[in-house]
Amino acid sequence: MESNCDTLTLLLAAKEIALAAGDIHLRYFRDPDLRIDAKFNDSDIVTTADKEAESFIIGEILSRFPDSEILSEESGEGGNVRARLRWIIDPLDGTTNFSQGLPMFSVSIGVQVDGLDTVGVVYAPKLGELFEAVAGKGAYLNGRPIECSGKRRLAEAVVATGFPVDKDTNPDNNLSQTVRIAPKLRGLRRLGSAALDLCYVAAGFLDGYWEMNLHEWDVAAGRLIAAEAGALYSLWRPDRGISAVAGSPDIFTQLSLELMKQH
Ligand code: IPD
Ligand code: CA
Ligand code: CA
Repeated sequence: MESNCDTLTLLLAAKEIALAAGDIHLRYFRDPDLRIDAKFNDSDIVTTADKEAESFIIGEILSRFPDSEILSEESGEGGNVRARLRWIIDPLDGTTNFSQGLPMFSVSIGVQVDGLDTVGVVYAPKLGELFEAVAGKGAYLNGRPIECSGKRRLAEAVVATGFPVDKDTNPDNNLSQTVRIAPKLRGLRRLGSAALDLCYVAAGFLDGYWEMNLHEWDVAAGRLIAAEAGALYSLWRPDRGISAVAGSPDIFTQLSLELMKQH
């Protein structure tokens, strides 16, 4: 592997960049003058912090790794599509929480080498939580190894989900799945940052997670972190964006079966 694809170099860069992007978030957090704009509809928003964090992250990546392909939420595809390195970025995951002054938000940076998930970093600056993983090397929270939970039954599982931005106009909006699955769980949560949901499965703070209509930038880092912590991750349907399910092995299996029963 050539030097700029060295996984340790990539990990250190992703962590440094995520930490600095988190500082940008914190500068705007609970600012009464924060600018909030609607994108697709009123449930799909972007703030100055998303945009500033994104331009900082992309600038840093391209100055350190000029031969990179980049996919980032607010600016889409960029860089060299033939590059071995592909950076998949959500500059601020959990913008609705952020815009409300709620602390569950993060920056998510996933790096693929030759199409394979290789490095994942998710940093939640207000919570002081830095999750990281390198393929084959385990997952860590603030430098300590993490493992998914060992829960066996849905009845003892605490699981998170989320709802798509077109929930007001499209009845295929996860409400029917939620109504069916929620009563079988110890608890259902809607935390509001898909990247953190996956990291919380990795750390055993959640036992499972499912959602529909996600994007690559929501899951690229978190799915590697979850897998490296022993959790399972998969797609539960092919026709609604990235519809992801993750969990400790037994909970993942039971959640997947529930989700297959009905779209
Ligand atoms: C959103 C969050 C949320 C999920 C949405 C995502 P954003 O990302 O991850 O938890 O339910 O589907 O779009 O817009 O805050 O980056
Ligand atoms: Ca997101
Ligand atoms: Ca985002």
